[in-house]
Amino acid sequence: MIFKTSICIEIIFRNTRPYEKRNRLFQQTLITQFIDFIECDNLIDIGCGTGYWLDIYNSKCKRITMLDQSKNMLTKRIEKATSLNIEHKISFLNSNFFLANFDNIKFDSALSSFFLSHLNNKQLDLFFSKIKNAINKKGLIVILDSSSKDYNIVKDVSIQTRTIKNGQEFQIYKRYFHFQEIIDLLWHFDLEILSFYYGSSFFAVSCSNN
Ligand SMILES: C[S@@+](CC[C@H](N)C(=O)[O-])C[C@H]1O[C@@H](n2cnc3c(N)ncnc32)[C@H](O)[C@@H]1O
Repeated sequence: MIFKTSICIEIIFRNTRPYEKRNRLFQQTLITQFIDFIECDNLIDIGCGTGYWLDIYNSKCKRITMLDQSKNMLTKRIEKATSLNIEHKISFLNSNFFLANFDNIKFDSALSSFFLSHLNNKQLDLFFSKIKNAINKKGLIVILDSSSKDYNIVKDVSIQTRTIKNGQEFQIYKRYFHFQEIIDLLWHFDLEILSFYYGSSFFAVSCSNN
């Protein structure tokens, strides 16, 4: 494996899928270490959902933009921010990421947690081009997402059926990233890997915008 940078400080391969899946604490602890990299003036949490990681990163960020296209989860996001008493430093951006206009704003960090795995190839490219422009040089990007179940499969893509609380079903596009696929993407978009964990259920990477 060749890396563009020598700053890659940690790469762990583990065949721990059942362990990762079952052990929520392990998942939380590991991901928290990656989120701990974030310390910034202005963070954007892309596809933030209900703001799952908000209580971990909020104290390190002066301003936070929580972007998600789902109106359903907006109330939960606001409730969470209110319970943490940090509404004053949060902008709630209810928008499709690809339609959002960042011409007048620069972020110095971005978090993408289980968002990329819902994008097709074209959207993935668009995501990285757009985020590179929206983030300062040397800004930090932390990505958490699903890894490929099988290391031998380069791309593992499916349309999955999910059910929401009221029983209503909907279909989503879901991909599982192969290790090399992530490396190639980051390399292609000139993002310098700072730290990388790749397990059999999820991966976490922090990188800087060159
Ligand atoms: C699996 S959830 C992850 C939520 C949260 N980041 C977490 O880790 O728990 C994916 C989120 O991405 C949002 N999403 C998907 N496509 C989007 C798009 N094009 N623009 C904005 N949000 C999008 C969905 O509404 C959903 O809340």
